[in-house]
Amino acid sequence: MPHLPSLLQTLNATTETLNRSALDQTDRRQLLQACDRLQRSLESPADTTARLVFSAHQLMALRLGIDLKLFDAIDAQIGPASAETFNTRPFNVSTICESLSHADPLLIQRIIRFLAAMDVVLEVDRDHFISTPLAASLVSSEPFSAAVIHSTHFTTVLSRLPEYFHCNGWKDPDDGFNGPFQFALGTEAHYFDFLGSNPYYGQAFDTVMSMSFRRRGRDWFEFFPVAERLSLPNDDETLLVDIGGGQGEDLMKFHSRFPALPGQLILQDLPSVIEGARESNKDLLSAGIQTQEYDFFKAQPVRGTRAYFMRTVLHDWPDKQAVLILGRVREAMASDSVLLISESILPDSGALLPSVISDMQMMGSFASRERTENQWRTLLDASGLKLVQVWLPDGCDRQAQSLAEQPALLEARLK
Ligand SMILES: C[S@@+](CC[C@H](N)C(=O)[O-])C[C@H]1O[C@@H](n2cnc3c(N)ncnc32)[C@H](O)[C@@H]1O
Repeated sequence: MPHLPSLLQTLNATTETLNRSALDQTDRRQLLQACDRLQRSLESPADTTARLVFSAHQLMALRLGIDLKLFDAIDAQIGPASAETFNTRPFNVSTICESLSHADPLLIQRIIRFLAAMDVVLEVDRDHFISTPLAASLVSSEPFSAAVIHSTHFTTVLSRLPEYFHCNGWKDPDDGFNGPFQFALGTEAHYFDFLGSNPYYGQAFDTVMSMSFRRRGRDWFEFFPVAERLSLPNDDETLLVDIGGGQGEDLMKFHSRFPALPGQLILQDLPSVIEGARESNKDLLSAGIQTQEYDFFKAQPVRGTRAYFMRTVLHDWPDKQAVLILGRVREAMASDSVLLISESILPDSGALLPSVISDMQMMGSFASRERTENQWRTLLDASGLKLVQVWLPDGCDRQAQSLAEQPALLEARLK
């Protein structure tokens, strides 16, 4: 055991001198993991319980600040801040209250007091605070605000899971149209229909889907031999259809990597998503990517394409519905078509926290799941397809930590 005073001195000195932005990403993550391990080894069960129990309040304080447009008001008062450096010009609470005249000043003060206790803003004097890079990244135009909106909305479902299971005999949810989400919100709408008719949450979801934290690891086409495994079409035929492709990031990346490959690229998604993609992603048009409104429970309009691609779509659907979606792809496939599924594969044992959180997210929102390789194989088999190969980058150990951050590419063909 190191001498405690000197350990404390080293830790405190490190905190004071460390410059986060100057650190390389890998070093920064290693340090964070070491801090995390240190915290876990120091915490008693009471400490851990308290940390977890009170984290919901903190997340909600951020959400209240976002919905109140508090972070935008701070920005407007002190000038735009950077997500990396502190803007040291203090803001004044009374001026903030004047600019947010639709809200009770007492309530605004309470929210700011909470945010100060979390170090999201720093109190310098009575009624005077300075903003932080975190506060600056929570203004409405920044994607982190969407992440908070999306996850606080999901807590509505999480908080009702115990009652859902009490009422449903502790049965693993298996119907995307009648699961925890419908129970929690008292609706018959599927989560995606709900998003389509609730633009506030719909836009937050779409923004989160496009965020870079969802795109860690290497892109599928960097470790899947595209030219060898896809029979290339003529220019007027279709090369790749991205089904449920969201805002089109994956097709854009594919196009930048292979600008000269022949054949059309087509983005398919629900009308509200395609409309958003057309408005916000003008590059789709200049890259020649076609957009198509399409419901994947209906007959696939693009037949005999070389490759159908689905990224993190099927984990949103339990087997009961995933079989129907895959059946529509199978009907459209020709003998040389391939279905490429980009998804994480749960290891048979030793699953890490990000994977099991995602699994619970799928359970709550969609009555669905993250799948093990065997569960993928069974699903594809039940859909009339066969799993030909699971592709991963060289050196990616299936049971290892890297799998949590590296989606696999499942290659499926007609049986
Ligand atoms: C988890 S997101 C994945 C988006 C994108 N593939 C990605 O990885 O960023 C699932 C996508 O499926 C789309 N989707 C849901 N139901 C659909 C349906 N019935 N027909 C077509 N697309 C649908 C959603 O709108 C959403 O864009």
